[in-house]
Amino acid sequence: MNQTDKEARLNERDLPLVSALEKGRQRHSFHMPANRAGQSFSAAFRTLLTELDTTELATTGDINQPDGVVLEALRVAARAFGAARTYFITSGTTNSLRIALATAFREGDRVLLAKGSHLSIANSCALLGLEAVFIRQDELPRFPDGQVSEAEVLRSLEEEEDLAGVLLTTPGYYGENLTLEKICEVAHAKNIPVLIDAAHGAHFAIKVEAPVLAEKSWPRTALEQGADLVAQSAHKTLPALTPASLLHLSQGAIDSGRISPTRLAKMLPVFQTSSPSFPIAASLDYARDFLEHDAPSYVTRLLESIADFEAQLPQEIHRDYVDGDDPCRLVLDYSDTACSRQKLMEILDFHQVDVELIDARRMVCIPALDTPRSSFNALAEACREIAQVEAGGQSQTAADLAQRKAFLRQEGSSFKIRENFFAESEEIEFQDALGRRSAAMIAPYPPGVPLLWPGEEITEADISLWQELLSLAYDIRGLKSGKVEVLAEE
Ligand SMILES: Cc1ncc(COP(=O)(O)O)c(C=O)c1O
Repeated sequence: MNQTDKEARLNERDLPLVSALEKGRQRHSFHMPANRAGQSFSAAFRTLLTELDTTELATTGDINQPDGVVLEALRVAARAFGAARTYFITSGTTNSLRIALATAFREGDRVLLAKGSHLSIANSCALLGLEAVFIRQDELPRFPDGQVSEAEVLRSLEEEEDLAGVLLTTPGYYGENLTLEKICEVAHAKNIPVLIDAAHGAHFAIKVEAPVLAEKSWPRTALEQGADLVAQSAHKTLPALTPASLLHLSQGAIDSGRISPTRLAKMLPVFQTSSPSFPIAASLDYARDFLEHDAPSYVTRLLESIADFEAQLPQEIHRDYVDGDDPCRLVLDYSDTACSRQKLMEILDFHQVDVELIDARRMVCIPALDTPRSSFNALAEACREIAQVEAGGQSQTAADLAQRKAFLRQEGSSFKIRENFFAESEEIEFQDALGRRSAAMIAPYPPGVPLLWPGEEITEADISLWQELLSLAYDIRGLKSGKVEVLAEE
């Protein structure tokens, strides 16, 4: 069959997924992956990609036991990202974090983390038998991903005993950043490692020229600030295939013995498939080269496009940005409009615009570094229409506030996640779950940050928040057809 015949056949076939994905290519993307349906790759690399799919051969080496050309690619990546060693993880930061946690900790270890850690971390704690020690939080987080403050982390590091380490998320989904230097200093003085979920921060390693930034500053990487092990989803912010991820190990972590590279090497094949994807790994090689050579000028253009876009925004919609945030992330607060979450989704869809996340008062846009002006114009057009929606719906800011308050904890608490996650459980209507303990993670998706972890008691505030979010058409992982999984009663 020649190529034309094959293409004709493809059009005749019933391929629901292929057809839907193909249509999606034409829309304006403000979401991950940051390769914009492959358009961010050079034409030559795009053509090459499928042809790079192979297995471990003498000429290629093994991604899980790096040597030869794989090792060379990792070596140049480590240099570009400022790590002592870098590993290509072809199964997402979900797995990079799992490998990091399994490397740094042993079963039963107490790990300090924020309640607002990604689902993948909660799942890893269950699998690895780690005790999750929640950071005590009394400052209302800015966003509903529950970001902790530097002071709260430092206080919990002081208060909690027998910690084996700390895992923090920065940047957050909304582009907010946590300063890590002091935290690393204090943790290292206790001889415990600092692991960072920097899923959204792979692009911080770009060497951006200062004049481009005007009054904004370019965030420093977690490694520059002293972190030991750092996981990044290259696919979220750099031109790489989904779910290309990087796991970086610092020189300080090796020298101090806080992290053993030998144990890390042992964990790689435990959590990666034995058939790691060469196209995904090759896209990491591509992203690293892009980052070193082309990315600074792309950042310049992107920041100019964002500034022009901001100037087009109607007064009812404003960008939520403070200095220190990721300048490339676009968080648009629509709470001064009369537009409901559902209506907003409708309007964006009409304009063929897809954003990463819509919460009760903001939309989060992740522009790829090469997002064209036409896409920003389409988003601006949609924003103007959103601003014109006439009053009708009720205010959603109460739901947003309740969601942020869900992270506040006046006292330290810890959970042996495995015991609760794998315990006998039953499914009940969530309205009847008051006082029961959850057996699952309950997380609006995206961002996939649990409002409740396994073992936590379900309160009246939880139930009314879920009710409210469901009425705003949220997808909540852990709630299926109005049911929640709770621990069986003894
Ligand atoms: C903060 C955070 N951590 C980890 C992950 C998991 O990353 P990946 O999708 O690369 O597995 C995500 C995914 O959205 C995330 O937002």
